[in-house]
Amino acid sequence: MRVREFEASDFEAAYRLDQTCYPPGIAYSRFALREFFRLPGVCAWVAEEEGGLVGFVIVRRIGSDRGHVITLDVRQDRRRQGIGRALLQTAERWLAQQGARRVRLETAVENQAAVTFWQRMGYETLGVLPGYYLDRLDAYRMEKRL
Ligand SMILES: CC(C)(COP(=O)(O)OP(=O)(O)OC[C@H]1O[C@@H](n2cnc3c(N)ncnc32)[C@H](O)[C@@H]1OP(=O)(O)O)[C@@H](O)C(=O)NCCC(=O)NCCS
Repeated sequence: MRVREFEASDFEAAYRLDQTCYPPGIAYSRFALREFFRLPGVCAWVAEEEGGLVGFVIVRRIGSDRGHVITLDVRQDRRRQGIGRALLQTAERWLAQQGARRVRLETAVENQAAVTFWQRMGYETLGVLPGYYLDRLDAYRMEKRL
């Protein structure tokens, strides 16, 4: 497995992976995913193996000292093997180089795997965002100081 910067040709594989990682309605449409790459301060990396893409992360630098994790996806059959951690560390290192002092993200409260992962990676819960997904699923806002 190797982590490298996202290229335009990764888009379709990333979109398809995202569709398998989240329930319908929460997974991003092609349009929404494409829009993220147009935002200022966005950078993304993929984890790839010979068989193809097994994970990706998209983050954004906001203002002078903040970062935001837009999404982090690892293929189901390759989870719990350190790929999420490797992608996140790459992204956090880049954000820190860009001047970010803290990183935020949102994650669904019932996504226990993700909540545990983020806590393990040093993220703390700041609060609950009611109806953050589809106007009915709550999310935690989490933050880590780099
Ligand atoms: C959350 C996600 C990205 C984690 O990726 P991963 O590659 O499986 O994570 P890692 O193997 O790097 O895990 C690092 C640590 O996090 C914790 N962790 C990760 N998944 C966990 C789970 N399902 N249950 C409990 N702890 C978990 C563990 O402490 C793990 O270390 P360990 O395996 O040595 O015990 C992955 O489950 C995923 O893609 N989920 C679907 C998409 C999603 O929910 N993304 C995050 C929301 S934005």
